[in-house]
Amino acid sequence: MSRLVVAQAYGGPEVLAVQHIELPQLTADQVLITVRAAGANPIDYKLYSGHMGDDPSALPLPVGMEVAGIVAEASRATGYTGPLEVGDEVIATNIRGGYADQAIADMSDVGHKPATLTDQEAAGLLLAGGAAWHLLTKTDVGSGDTVLIHGAGGGVGLLAVQLAVARGATVIGTASAGRHDHLRSLGAQPVEYGAGLADRVRALGSADAALDLVGTDEALDVSVELVADRGRIATIAGFGRAGQLGIAALTSADGGQAIRDASRPELIKLAAAGQLKVPVDKVFPLEQAADAHRYLQSGHARGKVVLVP
Ligand SMILES: NC(=O)c1ccc[n+]([C@@H]2O[C@H](COP(=O)([O-])OP(=O)(O)OC[C@H]3O[C@@H](n4cnc5c(N)ncnc54)[C@H](OP(=O)(O)O)[C@@H]3O)[C@@H](O)[C@H]2O)c1
Repeated sequence: MSRLVVAQAYGGPEVLAVQHIELPQLTADQVLITVRAAGANPIDYKLYSGHMGDDPSALPLPVGMEVAGIVAEASRATGYTGPLEVGDEVIATNIRGGYADQAIADMSDVGHKPATLTDQEAAGLLLAGGAAWHLLTKTDVGSGDTVLIHGAGGGVGLLAVQLAVARGATVIGTASAGRHDHLRSLGAQPVEYGAGLADRVRALGSADAALDLVGTDEALDVSVELVADRGRIATIAGFGRAGQLGIAALTSADGGQAIRDASRPELIKLAAAGQLKVPVDKVFPLEQAADAHRYLQSGHARGKVVLVP
């Protein structure tokens, strides 16, 4: 029997419960992973909130999309970093039910964990890192660019900052004052969000591209005010106004998943080379998944939130 966190209904974190389940037989292209850490992401609670669909037949809904752990069972499996053997330390994404003792993944979604990262760090690398990679790719951020990143101190933001710096860009990142030293240590120029943001950014430099990770009117309006080319502005949170503003709203749809999946070996390489750190903010036991989601919903996480079985 394996413990698995599920949403028993659509609603807030109170609908989460731990179930004891019998795992199904693996198919030939699946891998069984003994979970050591599960990454928690805002999408996890959004999926059972009812705002992204409320099909009763999908309940109970397994929660959690990425894990780090050990291969417990696999037959002639090859993941995105090469062949997989029982006992290998791995990280996996695109999982349904990662908040668990054991999780099943398609072998194409399983890769080797870089030795430089702990399990808890590795469990937070791929979903946020893939979104950050997608944003930077879509806006074509590279050497010589100055990129404005709204929400630079969060789970996606801290990875986006490091990836932009690794591409040779100058980074201006918005965050509350308590995050500024951390952002400076990663090579960004921090700036406080709130009234007067556009002027504070102008004082630091001229932005060639902007990434919105918060979705506020302020982040969207300042982006279009400061960046001349709307093709170089992208959001992963401000979907309501993106169409009207003519900026890209990025999800895993429309080829986004392929870009994110292709980023996984690159993210692992950068992490293995010590060029990409995964700042872990808080760690919760599996039974406290609801508390982890309440914390994420506060909107002020300082890095990745992780669950441990
Ligand atoms: N579309 C996609 O494919 C996709 C993929 C991944 C994530 N997302 C979305 O992207 C968003 C960020 O995800 P995350 O995992 O990074 O969340 P997170 O870890 O909870 O980070 C939120 C960050 O936002 C900052 N923040 C809050 N209010 C702000 C404001 N008004 N202006 C600027 N920054 C502000 C907070 O910093 P302070 O504490 O300094 O305020 C915090 O660091 C979420 O909405 C998530 O659902 C979308």
